[in-house]
Amino acid sequence: MRDPNHYGIATYYTVMNRRKFIKRGILATLGAGLFTGLYTWQIEPFWLEFVKRKMPVANLPKRLIGKTIMQISDIHIGDRFDYHFIIDSFEKAKKWSPDYVVYTGDYIQNDSKKQFIQLPEVLKHCVKGKLGTFGVLGNHDYGMRYTEQNVADEVCSQLSKAGIEVLQNTQKEAGGLNFIGFDDVQGLNFYPHRVMNYYNESKANVVLCHNPDVCDLDVWNGYKGWILAGHTHGGQCKPPFFKPPILPVKNKRYTKGEIDLYDGRKLYINRALGHLKQVRFNVRPEITIFELEKA
Ligand SMILES: [Fe+2]
Repeated sequence: MRDPNHYGIATYYTVMNRRKFIKRGILATLGAGLFTGLYTWQIEPFWLEFVKRKMPVANLPKRLIGKTIMQISDIHIGDRFDYHFIIDSFEKAKKWSPDYVVYTGDYIQNDSKKQFIQLPEVLKHCVKGKLGTFGVLGNHDYGMRYTEQNVADEVCSQLSKAGIEVLQNTQKEAGGLNFIGFDDVQGLNFYPHRVMNYYNESKANVVLCHNPDVCDLDVWNGYKGWILAGHTHGGQCKPPFFKPPILPVKNKRYTKGEIDLYDGRKLYINRALGHLKQVRFNVRPEITIFELEKA
């Protein structure tokens, strides 16, 4: 250390204060960075939010007013994160005792063979609706490059064993509500016309469709009503006031939440329960609970 007299006392203390200030600034920045990193990796990916929304449906039978549809999406079982989070979330979700439960695709991650040991273990705990439980497939359920039919068949078989009815371009009425399910647009069996040719507008309909980009395709045959989707995970990380930098859709309007398509269709994009990578910032994992009301 230099002799204070070298600078003069006042200059010496000014220099020392500035050094202390810079040192504290660096430590604070490092601390904030470390905290944000830990939060993004270890806290937010496992901080589940139950989101409640009203769902007005045309032609809804009176007896279904006030009943609930729970939407769970993109559980991505594999080795990307601890799948016990999904089991714990299912157990919490059961406490809401939903009337219907719908799963909107991407049950597996498809980069670990262990997924087909883990998936049935997770599905043993899956949430089921009192009036019906339905699912559609997502792109990841079709294996590598979304081209493996045997992988999709195994996922469907596991879902059926667990009591989830898979809708592959088909529809099924349960207790007065008609669920229409599309197979995934990036998979091998995207034939929505097979069900939409028989679309009956006098029913109380809800569409399940993994990828929201399908909303922009000419497959709807005049459909009016709700479309429940997943796929985007809300981008998983989103800086405040800006769009998420990574969003796997062509139409960048399709981020998350409720979106009016201004033609009688309403889209809801669930932010996903699982993750592609174990990082989330400002986009907590979500289970949605819709309360039915007459439109
Ligand atoms: Fe996904």
